[in-house]
Amino acid sequence: MTTRRLPGARPEPPAAIRPAAPPPLDGDTRAERAAANAGLPTVEFAEATPYEAYVGVRQLQALVRTVTDHPAEPAFLVVTQVMELWFTLLRREWELAQRQLRADDLDGAVASIRRSVHHLRSLDASWGSLLWLTPAEFNGFRDSLGEASGFQSYEYRDVEFLLGLKAESVVRPHRGLPVVHADLQRALAGPSLEDDVLAYLARRGLPVPAAVLARDRSVPHEPDPAVTGLWADVYRDPRPANELFALGEALTDVAEVFTTWRQRHVTAVRRAMGAKPGSGGSAGLVWLERSAARVVFPDLWAARTTV
Ligand code: HEM
Repeated sequence: MTTRRLPGARPEPPAAIRPAAPPPLDGDTRAERAAANAGLPTVEFAEATPYEAYVGVRQLQALVRTVTDHPAEPAFLVVTQVMELWFTLLRREWELAQRQLRADDLDGAVASIRRSVHHLRSLDASWGSLLWLTPAEFNGFRDSLGEASGFQSYEYRDVEFLLGLKAESVVRPHRGLPVVHADLQRALAGPSLEDDVLAYLARRGLPVPAAVLARDRSVPHEPDPAVTGLWADVYRDPRPANELFALGEALTDVAEVFTTWRQRHVTAVRRAMGAKPGSGGSAGLVWLERSAARVVFPDLWAARTTV
C-alpha cells in the first residue's frame, strides 16, 4: 500500500511509525454508499477506521509522553509538538514555492506563500494555549526537561534558513543525528525562498545584481541597495494586477507573522521564567531578544523607506 504525501525534500518516516494509508474511494462509490446508508455515516468497519489509518491517532497519542505528573506539562508538550508540525508544514509550503518559482509558475508560488501565511497565523495563535503558564507552574516540571530546549528544534532551523536567517552554529547541535545534520547542512548552503524569488525576478529581466545572485547562501542575507530599489519600483504600482506587488506583499506577510511568533515567544518566556538562564545553555531572555530582532527579507522592508 502506498502513502500519499505532500511534496517535500525529507525522506518518509520509517514504516514502523507510519500509519497505513486508507484505500482510495472515488466520487461514484461515495455516492453509492451514501444512497445505501440512507444518508447516514458508515458505522461498520472490520478493522480500525479509515480515519485512524490516515491520521494515526494512536501514534500521535503515544507521542504525548510527559515526563512528570505536573498538570501544566501536557499543554507545554502538546503545544510544542503542534508547533513542530506547523514548522514542517511551513517548510513544505516554502519548498513547494521554490520549485514553482524555478518552473516560472508565479501564480502557483504566490498561492503557496499565501497559504503559508494562514499556517503562520495558526502557529502564532498556538501561543494562546501557553500564555497562562506562571513561573511556579513552569518550575513544577522544568527541571525534568533537562537540557531540552526549542533551540534544538531542527524543523525551526529549516524554517529560518528558508527565510534567509542562516547560521552555521545552529546546525552543530544535530551532529549526533547524521540524516538531520546532512539535511540541515544542505539547507544552510542552499537557496532561501528569497534567493529563488530573486533568481525568478532576474529571469524576468529585472536588474538583480549578479553578485546578489551568486552570494554566499550560508550567511544571513543583508539588504542590497539594488534589490531594495527594485522592490521600491514594484511597490510604486500597488494594484492587484501587479503580480510582483502581490508576491512582495505575500512575502511581507510571511516576514511579519513569523516575526510576531518570535516576539510572542519572547513574551511567553518573560511570563514563564523571567530573566533566568535558558535550559539550552543560553542567558535566556536577553539572548532570545537579540535572536528575535533579526530581520526577515530586509530588502522588502527597506524598500518602503524609498517609495
Ligand atoms: C513558555 C514556554 C517556553 C519557554 C520558557 C521557552 C524558553 C526558551 C529559551 C530560554 C530559549 C533560549 C535558548 C535556551 O534554552 O537557552 C528558547 C529558544 C527557543 N524556543 Fe522556547 N520556550 C518556550 C516555549 C517554546 C515553544 C512552545 C516552542 C515551539 C517549538 C519553542 C521554540 C523555541 C525555539 C525555536 C528556540 C530557538 C530560538 C532562536 O534560535 O532564536 N519554545 N526557548
